[in-house]
Amino acid sequence: MFGGTYAGRRVLVTGHTGFKGSWLCLWLVTLGARVTGLALDPDTAPAHWSLLDLNEVNDLRIDLRNGPSVHQALAQIQPEIVFHLAAQPLVRRSYREPLLTFETNVMGLVHLLEAVRSTRSVQALVNATTDKVYLEQVTDGGYREDQPLGGHDPYSTSKACAELLSDCYRKSFFAETGPLLSTARAGNVIGGGDWSEDRLVPDIVRAAFSKQVLRIRNPDAIRPWQHVLEPLSGYLRLGQHLLAGKRVQGAWNFGPTPDATMAVGTLVAKMQAQWTELQVERQPGDHPHEAKTLQLDSSKAQSELGWRAVWNVEDTIRHTIEWYRAYSERNELLSAAQLHSYIDAARAARLDWTA
Ligand SMILES: NC(=O)c1ccc[n+]([C@@H]2O[C@H](COP(=O)([O-])OP(=O)(O)OC[C@H]3O[C@@H](n4cnc5c(N)ncnc54)[C@H](O)[C@@H]3O)[C@@H](O)[C@H]2O)c1
Repeated sequence: MFGGTYAGRRVLVTGHTGFKGSWLCLWLVTLGARVTGLALDPDTAPAHWSLLDLNEVNDLRIDLRNGPSVHQALAQIQPEIVFHLAAQPLVRRSYREPLLTFETNVMGLVHLLEAVRSTRSVQALVNATTDKVYLEQVTDGGYREDQPLGGHDPYSTSKACAELLSDCYRKSFFAETGPLLSTARAGNVIGGGDWSEDRLVPDIVRAAFSKQVLRIRNPDAIRPWQHVLEPLSGYLRLGQHLLAGKRVQGAWNFGPTPDATMAVGTLVAKMQAQWTELQVERQPGDHPHEAKTLQLDSSKAQSELGWRAVWNVEDTIRHTIEWYRAYSERNELLSAAQLHSYIDAARAARLDWTA
């Protein structure tokens, strides 16, 4: 898988105690990588990271806002590749705490880039941003990587800044000798192991298990829903190319299959069809601005990286519900089994990265 790129590699994952970072560590450990994680303590209880109990990972609790500590950590670890996932990633929290959001997502990234600049072992950096970096506008078939950056709320703006910062370091400091750097823009990620506040699936899970009615704020908002393993296969594929010295620097969209871009209300109805206990009603009132329609055009990743989404929306929903039910009803963790199912499905689809 991934051409054997990750076996024995020194890999740094920032944000490993979070939802996506914990799944990425599980996958990297499976690939035989020597993984270090750099993050804060998990924000939620339970937390997927703690449940996975990945003793193989060198677990560092360091605040990205502390530049000298980040610098010292990279000097010690000497990573060959960095996957940067640490962030304050919640839109509504970013309205409440803009300073924290910019300090983490902008200055935290500057500290990391500065540390990378002085750590010569780093050959590649994949910076996870989001579909929310685009200037909000009507698109035909979804946002493409060459469309303008924007951002209305503090979170989206901070991630658009992260895109500009990545471009700045690429041109100013990494052009001759520095690492190859790409940014990766994923859609709305769902899957087992997310308990974040103000996110649709965790809210659904909390409501279903406590037999309460779920109140949804923006049922008409259209989002590209994808299983967490989808963008991660994109990040790993990108990392494979960067470590091989391929000039795939720049921005990459990793969106879902076309059937999976749908309104919040439609996704909830599909989940209800598989989870009959779930009761939903619309939450009236004014809510802070969130983009009406987000859709990603991932044709560049498909044609140049041989990457595409594997699971359709039904598979994504089924795996997500199965994960939470197994955990809550039987105390069983399906993460490793679901990773293997995903890889099997990708092999059946003959995706290049499975070789
Ligand atoms: N979940 C999604 O739907 C989604 C979609 C697109 C992009 N993303 C991006 O993917 C990345 C991961 O998202 P997630 O959903 O796993 O988030 P998460 O909230 O579950 O995890 C965030 C991680 O960042 C770490 N972190 C936060 N502040 C930090 C700091 N000051 N210093 C060090 N570490 C810090 C946390 O400890 C945690 O490990 C983020 O960059 C996010 O913007 C997420």
